[in-house]
Amino acid sequence: MGYQVYLRSFADGDGDGWGDLAGLRARLEHLAWLGVDVVWISPLYPSPLRDGGYDVADYLDVDPRLGSLEELGALVSEAHALGLRILLDLVPNHTSSDHPWFMAARGDRDSPYRDHYVWRDPAPDGGPPNNWPAHFGGPAWTYDDASGQYWLHLFLPHQPDLNWQSPAVDEAFADILERWLAWGIDGVRIDVAHALVKHPDLPDLPPAPGQGDEVEVTGGSGVGVEREFERYAHVHDADQPGVTEIYRRWRAIADRHDALLLGEVYLLEPQRLRRYVADQDGLHLAFWFAPLHLEWSPAAVRAALREGLEEVGPWLSWPLASHDRPRSATALGGGDLGRARALCLATLVCGLPGLPMIYQGEELGLTDVPLPHEVRQDPIAVRGEPERARDPGRTPIPWEPGPGWGFTSADEPWLPIGDRRPEDTVAVQRGDLDSWLQRYRALLATRKGLHGSVADEPVDWLAPDGPIVAYRRGPVVVAANCGQQAATLTLDGRHRIVRFASARAREGQRVAEELPLEPHEAVVLGP
Ligand code: NOJ
Repeated sequence: MGYQVYLRSFADGDGDGWGDLAGLRARLEHLAWLGVDVVWISPLYPSPLRDGGYDVADYLDVDPRLGSLEELGALVSEAHALGLRILLDLVPNHTSSDHPWFMAARGDRDSPYRDHYVWRDPAPDGGPPNNWPAHFGGPAWTYDDASGQYWLHLFLPHQPDLNWQSPAVDEAFADILERWLAWGIDGVRIDVAHALVKHPDLPDLPPAPGQGDEVEVTGGSGVGVEREFERYAHVHDADQPGVTEIYRRWRAIADRHDALLLGEVYLLEPQRLRRYVADQDGLHLAFWFAPLHLEWSPAAVRAALREGLEEVGPWLSWPLASHDRPRSATALGGGDLGRARALCLATLVCGLPGLPMIYQGEELGLTDVPLPHEVRQDPIAVRGEPERARDPGRTPIPWEPGPGWGFTSADEPWLPIGDRRPEDTVAVQRGDLDSWLQRYRALLATRKGLHGSVADEPVDWLAPDGPIVAYRRGPVVVAANCGQQAATLTLDGRHRIVRFASARAREGQRVAEELPLEPHEAVVLGP
């Protein structure tokens, strides 16, 4: 089971209001208790934090606000002793504009680092070289007065894209990966893994199907941010030939260290995602994000899970939420309805091949915090669309009731903790066997316990329609009622035991012919 730690909001060890490595170290035992195997830590490198650390100024060091290399080394040893593997977040698509490479490259066409980035002359009218939009609004190009050229950035101007046609960039990242793995890190989550390579001619993007021809990039005020981005068919700025070659080279490095390569390949079309993992000579796993984008219905849940598994294959990581999306309890209906749906999805995912990935706080059933616009820090807010900013899902974890909620001893955490209730906290939920936390823990333990009996078994989907989404895998049946009415799943008559149930009282029940499920009830049956 994977667990995403968004470090600045996880636990503050030194009392400055920021989550940090010391805080995470102190909570490693909690993660082991929960049943986690793999911990992915969001970027911890020195960074001007224009995009939450996804703007890296030094790939081989730790931001002093978050700790130090020594602290990270201690954390890795302690994690290993607890049976946890640690993944860092590698950001190879772009650096920070504060990275020494970019500082040397900017303004000097003859810099040895110039070719690390993508530079182009202005269009004949002086404007950007093509029509590409940036994810966070405005054009994907910014003009550099000193050298008279534009630089490319698929995200912020402060996140210049690296030029993966340059052998020097390729060598630099092979070296960065080798150094971290040799140092003791167990693998990497690879940011924007689908977009490192761009079409060499950088042609204009056509409009997305149904968008007409009149697509025009609006100014830097961030009008429509992601909506604007979605108006184009991204056929030249992502998923280009050559990108999987990079991961083939990395796989050789990873294999030498028995390390994991997990790609954030943000492609919702399974056939495109497939080529990143199908040959198993590059990435070990790729995230399948479709379940985070569904409009809840039994059919949509079933389709998102089946599509990933059947059209991509078993090499998936299943995010249950992420720092880029609303929390699942909020996205799936809010309150206890959203929490129950999230646990249904988690249960279904937990029996499938691949690596489910909990985003910190999902196991507590946390909802988004409705932050005032002025405290939001995400670049989407800074650039003019605070209502779409990702901060409400990134607020600090409430560990225990009381001042600072056990997250910090500082008066003010870096983002408000918000209006949490004592029953949202780890401390209270640990003491209540019916809490969300204890249910997630039971689910993870069931997953681990049954792993041996399902590992080589195919997934047979049981109910092609209706409110219950269910499958059998060897002797195990996983089922969730994702509809609004009670329903019954007819089984094969084999005697099974309820090993996990969202309603704890059902655990231990014997089931053979029929499995009745209330709305939003989820179970795992096993021998
Ligand atoms: C994906 C990360 O998850 C997101 O937080 C970030 O803004 C972009 N990549 C750019 O690095």
